Amino acid sequence: MPNTKTSVPFVGTTEQAAKLQAVIQRHKGQRGASMPVLQEAQEIYGYLPEEVQVMVAEGLDIPLTEIYGIVSFYSQFILEPKGKTHIAVCMGTACYVRGAGDILDDIANHTCCKSGGITDDGSVSIEATRCIGACGLAPVLTINNDVYGKLDRGQIEPIIDEYLEKAKAEEAAEQE
Ligand code: FES
Repeated sequence: MPNTKTSVPFVGTTEQAAKLQAVIQRHKGQRGASMPVLQEAQEIYGYLPEEVQVMVAEGLDIPLTEIYGIVSFYSQFILEPKGKTHIAVCMGTACYVRGAGDILDDIANHTCCKSGGITDDGSVSIEATRCIGACGLAPVLTINNDVYGKLDRGQIEPIIDEYLEKAKAEEAAEQE
C-alpha cells in the first residue's frame, strides 16, 4: 500500500472519533459495511486521510489494504483536506475547449499548489472537477462556494489574490 499520509497533518477531535466509533458499531458485522462507514466517516472529517482509514479498518476488522482499495477507486472519496481557499476548475468538455487546462496551469503556478493537492500550510487546495452543470458559463471555476464563469486567463489571479488576502486577514484576527 502506498504512503497515504496527507501533506497537511491530520487533526481529529475526540468528538469526531466518538461519532465514527458509533457509526462503526452500527454497521459492524453487516455485509458491505465499509462503503456506508467510509461515506459517513467522510461526512464527519470532510476527507479520508490514512489515520481515518486505519480507524475504519480496525473498527470493522477489515484489512487496511482493502479500505485503501475502496477509497482510491471511488472518486467520491477525498483523500486530502481542502485548503482555506479551495479552487475547483471544471475540466468538462465545454470548459476544456474554452481553455480550462491553461487556466488550471496558471492557477497552479500562481498559488504554488499542484492540481489535486494542497499547499503545506493548508492555505490553498486545487481540484480539477467534472462538469458542474454550468456549461453556458464555460470556462467555470469555483473558489470556496463562489462560482466564476467566462473568465479570461488574466482576470483570475487578482480574484484569487483577494481570497488569499481575506483568509490571511481572518487568520491574523483570530490570533489577536
Ligand atoms: S463543462 Fe464545465 S460546467 Fe459543464
